[in-house]
Amino acid sequence: MKKIPEVSFLKFLKHSLEILKNPLPFHNANFEEKGDIFKLNVGFNSNIYFCRDAAFAQYVLQKNQKNYVKSKIQTVDLVKYVGEGLLTSEGEKWKNQRKMMQPAFHKKQLQNLIKGMQDTIVSEYEAIETNKTINLFPILNDLTFQTVVKSLFTKAAKAEDMKRLQFITEENQKMLVRELRQPYLGWWFKMSGTLDKYLDLSKEARTILKGVLDERKASGNRYDDLLDMLLETKYEDGSNMSEEQLIDEILIIFTAGHETTSNALTFTFQLLAKHPEWQDKIYEEWLSLGGNNTDLMTRIAASKVCQQVLEESMRLFPPAYFIDRVNVEEDAFNDMTFKPGCSILFSVYEMHRHPKLWEDALEFKPQRFAEGSRKFSSQYFPFGAGPRKCIGNNFAMFEMIIAVTELVSKFKIQSQFDTIGITPLITLKPKNALLRFEKR
Ligand code: HEM
Repeated sequence: MKKIPEVSFLKFLKHSLEILKNPLPFHNANFEEKGDIFKLNVGFNSNIYFCRDAAFAQYVLQKNQKNYVKSKIQTVDLVKYVGEGLLTSEGEKWKNQRKMMQPAFHKKQLQNLIKGMQDTIVSEYEAIETNKTINLFPILNDLTFQTVVKSLFTKAAKAEDMKRLQFITEENQKMLVRELRQPYLGWWFKMSGTLDKYLDLSKEARTILKGVLDERKASGNRYDDLLDMLLETKYEDGSNMSEEQLIDEILIIFTAGHETTSNALTFTFQLLAKHPEWQDKIYEEWLSLGGNNTDLMTRIAASKVCQQVLEESMRLFPPAYFIDRVNVEEDAFNDMTFKPGCSILFSVYEMHRHPKLWEDALEFKPQRFAEGSRKFSSQYFPFGAGPRKCIGNNFAMFEMIIAVTELVSKFKIQSQFDTIGITPLITLKPKNALLRFEKR
């Protein structure tokens, strides 16, 4: 059996400040020195296995997924803010929820939502001021939140309630980042009442959502939106989802579906600003497909260039930049053994930039996806892989294709920054989305 190279606790300590700011260069240096799998000694006799071996990722996420569960980051730490739903549950509970919710995210069902998405996107873009430098990220962050709101609740939810919900979702994520980055302050967060303050915010979010559900049920109106779908779907025994479970799932859809998409869109526009020839290609494709005169779904499905750009953007800047798992029973892969309970962290960021897996790995070349992303399914994981793959991947792709084509068909984008900066938190966030827009 092969010994897995180790990075010592001393080295970890030496780099701890740098890791707190941005752990990715530290990961990269160790991958370069130790190979595609190494274990990091993080003290107290515990190790984290860091991997950029795509075959191992496929093995864990797909082939032998039954032996792997999510880490406590999702199944414990996040649960206290958003409850136990699709993203955060395990075992039978997860299986039943996934089976029940899958139809609401089918392409056919999403057809009911795309016109609402387009209207939301167009109205959010009214905030873009031309011929001056603006930070696009807040606009896109609002856009993706509002898209989820409209897809779930059509027009039924009050704007001020939704603003509050957005505030709470974002505040709780910030608190979770603090807890994960500074675990040694856990006692202080509890003693000082900081944690309770955030848990109270979660309670407030639940009360807001309960109000929305009560109103929908009392109105008897049908909107064919995600909420109607979730209210109507049934478990195998014919029962409906409980109200508490439904609230958990809605909070999770907000958490999983909003920041990831706004990050991906921001990186995409930054890349487009640096590569104006791809803006022109998207614009020409939009024109050749008849622009807004063509049926929206038909145009989305035919927007191949736009799709390639989005795939390449998520290769270079995957919003979900790591995926972690813990093995239940001992396992072996390529002469390496893993005792039960190993924390294994797959760096999607590193796999997507691995020079052995990608030609000109660090270059923006959307044409590599000309035959679709399936060609790279063994090494490209922006939405994860296996049974726990993102349920919202079509939702996100449709939304992003509309968002990119709406913007590129109206504006030319210029960059007002040197390099694309990143802030790796729970998701990979953009840093300096300073852009300038000119009417086309
Ligand atoms: C560009 C946008 C998005 C990216 C990059 C992304 C990425 C991911 C990834 C990597 C996972 C798997 C995590 C793991 O295996 O540990 C995941 C799961 C999930 N995503 Fe997304 N996501 C995006 C958008 C969305 C949207 C728009 C929604 C909902 C509307 C959504 C809802 C979910 C849910 C509910 C899960 C949990 C699925 C399960 O465990 O069965 N995501 N996402």
